Amino acid sequence: ASNAMWGGRFAAGPDAIMEAINASIGFDQRLYTQDIRGSRAHAAMLAAQGIISDKDAEAIGEGLVTVLSEIETGKFEFSAALEDIHMNIEARLKVLVGEPAGRLHTARSRNDQVATDFRLWVREQCDAAISGLDALIRAAVARAEEGADWVMPGFTHLQTAQPVTFGHHMMAYVEMFARDKSRFEDARKRMNESPLGAAALAGTGFNIDRFATAQALGFDRPMANSLDAVSDRDFALEFLSASAICAVHLSRLAEELVIWSSAQFRFVSMSDKWSTGSSIMPQKRNPDAAELIRAKIGRILGASVALFTVMKGLPLAYSKDMQEDKEQVFDAADNLMLALAAMAGMIGDLSVHQANLEAAASSGFSTATDLADWLVREAGLPFREAHHVTGSLVAMAEAAGCDLPDLSLEQMHAVHPGITEAVFDVLGVHNSVASRQSYGGTAPDQVRAQVARWREILG
Ligand code: ARG
Repeated sequence: ASNAMWGGRFAAGPDAIMEAINASIGFDQRLYTQDIRGSRAHAAMLAAQGIISDKDAEAIGEGLVTVLSEIETGKFEFSAALEDIHMNIEARLKVLVGEPAGRLHTARSRNDQVATDFRLWVREQCDAAISGLDALIRAAVARAEEGADWVMPGFTHLQTAQPVTFGHHMMAYVEMFARDKSRFEDARKRMNESPLGAAALAGTGFNIDRFATAQALGFDRPMANSLDAVSDRDFALEFLSASAICAVHLSRLAEELVIWSSAQFRFVSMSDKWSTGSSIMPQKRNPDAAELIRAKIGRILGASVALFTVMKGLPLAYSKDMQEDKEQVFDAADNLMLALAAMAGMIGDLSVHQANLEAAASSGFSTATDLADWLVREAGLPFREAHHVTGSLVAMAEAAGCDLPDLSLEQMHAVHPGITEAVFDVLGVHNSVASRQSYGGTAPDQVRAQVARWREILG
């Protein structure tokens, strides 16, 4: 049998394979709330404009409430023959309220309908990402405050570079996550215009009020161009792009947690809640949550590449290719929210081993730069020469199997006679971090100032 919604010109129904490739109900049923919200706003507007009767609008509105509760209580039977969520709901509405259901689609197309539903859905996910990031930022700020003067090695090339504080390291991620949050806020603002009323592509001859439906759905305004309204999925691409950048940040922090929790580093231990054991090696505590967070960028970036690729060659206006937008965005959003929540939980529960951080910071010649800076300040050497002198001292310590503060003054004098006892003050890691007072530097005072700034921003 031909399709009840559009089958007027068809004698026969689709091939089974056609139905399988065409149907989106398997995944777009997730849009049911948004679809019903959009339809209710549309029906109310049609009545207010005198396009359908108040009585019909009322029947439609009540029927849609019934449909909503049927879906929510698992009583609704989704049908692949009805392709997508839009036609499934409309068909059920027809059974429930009869003839008025057929008037709902006046001055509307599935093209503006799906664009509206999906914008509403992605907008909600922006809000979810924003609050997920907010919770993560709060967790990281709390750890930063606690560890504002815990010294640890700072790395470049994963080689000991200079001492930093644990708080400073945490606050670096706070900055990244805050930018991620602002990307979602920004994308949300830009996507918050209503496609509804663009109809199939050209607008409609009915006297609709797009401002009314836009307002009813919480949009700032209707989209200004009907072709654009049904054609573009840049809002989804922006969401995916912001998600991918955020997932990169999550992945880098996850990688550090994996390294830090290894027996070789012992900077942190994961709590039981965020680790798993091995079925053969009884001693194991594996950082699986961190590893999975580290991996999520793969599918999230994959989703964004997939949708960019779908969109890149499409002529205006709607093409069915665009139906492929949803699974990618659903998957990326689900996994981003999961990763954000897992990371916030892990950061909150982490045991940080302050003594191990400090021991690691004190090895590996981490204060060599402080020594070179001291030679510039106190012995008047040009930095390049100070660098060379310090390099020789590092080589000497390395040969002696000790660290810089373990060298005697006599040994140092053999390399440069201008060195005095006072040099030992700058070779300690606490003095080193305390001296980094430049704005944004790692000095505990600076870190506390940043923590205070964030506490104020977060309220
Ligand atoms: N299921 C479709 C989608 O997700 C809805 C829009 C269909 N429009 C159309 N003209 N076939 O894109």
